[in-house]
Amino acid sequence: MDIVYDIILILHFIGLASVVGGFLVQMKSTDRGVNPAMVHGALTQLVTGLLLVGLPEMGVATPYTGWEAWDHTKIAIKLILTVIITILAFVGRRKPRPQTGIWGAIGGLSIATIVIAVVW
Ligand code: HEM
Repeated sequence: MDIVYDIILILHFIGLASVVGGFLVQMKSTDRGVNPAMVHGALTQLVTGLLLVGLPEMGVATPYTGWEAWDHTKIAIKLILTVIITILAFVGRRKPRPQTGIWGAIGGLSIATIVIAVVW
């Protein structure tokens, strides 16, 4: 199952690129909002993140950092932030532009999640 784990981890990075890319590409726009890349990226992070935790928990895959070494508080905070990001993406998708607040919140929380993933 380690090849499955690797594929899910690759998808985790593609999801990261999608949500942050969807945010960055609008940096200079006057009509900022939630675009499909941000919605699909947020959902991808939620699903792949849960699988990255679930597969080792079921004992069918080995994470790179070692399951015992994981800080579950870090994972919980990443999960909470990602749920907020996903909710904001779905709320923003239905609202008329510009929605600079929601756009900025999704971008800021996503970058904060990267910092937590790497530094914690
Ligand atoms: C916007 C949301 C997210 C971003 C930007 C993000 C980013 C990252 C990054 C940069 C890494 C590689 C560095 C590391 O290993 O810590 C990573 C790994 C990981 N992420 Fe996420 N993540 C997100 C959401 C989630 C969620 C919701 C979960 C689980 C509930 C999760 C679970 C994991 C796990 C378990 C790894 C470690 C994989 C391993 O070491 O084998 N992530 N994430």
